[in-house]
Amino acid sequence: MQSVRMTEELWQHLLSLREDSIDPVALPEDVDVSCLSLYRPLALRERPFALAQVGQSLDGRIATPAGDAQNVSGSDGIAHLHRCRALVDAVIVGVGTVVADNPSLSVRAVRGRSPVRVVVDCNGRMPERAKMLHDGGTPVLVMQADDASRRYDAHEVIRLPRQADGGLLPNDILTALAERDLATVLVEGGARTISRFVDAQLIDHLHVSVSPIIIGSGPAGIRLAPIERLSEARRPEVQIYNIGTDIVFDCNLRAEARQQTALPKREDILMANTA
Ligand SMILES: NC(=O)c1ccc[n+]([C@@H]2O[C@H](COP(=O)([O-])OP(=O)(O)OC[C@H]3O[C@@H](n4cnc5c(N)ncnc54)[C@H](OP(=O)(O)O)[C@@H]3O)[C@@H](O)[C@H]2O)c1
Repeated sequence: MQSVRMTEELWQHLLSLREDSIDPVALPEDVDVSCLSLYRPLALRERPFALAQVGQSLDGRIATPAGDAQNVSGSDGIAHLHRCRALVDAVIVGVGTVVADNPSLSVRAVRGRSPVRVVVDCNGRMPERAKMLHDGGTPVLVMQADDASRRYDAHEVIRLPRQADGGLLPNDILTALAERDLATVLVEGGARTISRFVDAQLIDHLHVSVSPIIIGSGPAGIRLAPIERLSEARRPEVQIYNIGTDIVFDCNLRAEARQQTALPKREDILMANTA
């Protein structure tokens, strides 16, 4: 497990990488840079990158059953989330999160610029009073199905084809963002939105930030199709970071997807062996 002790020096270095500076802020040789691996893929912007982040309790909950998700993460978990926001082009949430939390999705806990805000609101049910629609912050893009046609004054609505399951293809969402030069994204929640992106194999890294509290009941951060055997469970490459109040599991889902396509499926091997 590596320790993340973010200093002003390290953060300035990351921000200068993020700004495509040809002359990034140099780091003295004696600085411990081990924590940089957590943020460099976002800051370097070498290719499109999708990060998903879940802030959860020790027992895997992201909110109470009543939907209270404020302060699931400790102060360092929140700073980590805001660092991720500051390094991406756009942050994506589902409309369920807007209804439950009324978030602003801005960068406040650290220095840095706020990302464009994207709400996946297939049926146009975002409340008119949602804070982000009126706070004068960064642009809000609303992803709606092509047969839903609600307007949000002063904000862009992007209409995408509705699929047979009633939803939008996560790939269509990322393509629409890439067309607007928004190539690095943070999928911040909630569970249904993250799960759709994970299911579609579009997430490069998943940060699971675990805070030492026990909520006892309430929704989980990710909900995928049920499996019968643990041998079918996903086992991504994971780097673990102690960020202070919370522990971050940085899961490389892209490497896992590559392994899955490169290796024959376990069931195929078992069937071939017993044939
Ligand atoms: N601790 C954390 O890290 C964290 C972070 C964020 C949120 N939360 C919590 O998570 C809860 C909300 O999560 P949630 O799973 O209920 O809701 P959600 O993921 O925020 O929103 C789900 C809704 O968004 C729309 N949506 C998302 N992806 C879509 C797609 N690909 N196609 C079509 N529609 C799509 C759908 O709206 P329609 O139903 O209109 O079709 C869907 O029902 C809240 O309690 C919030 O506090 C926790």
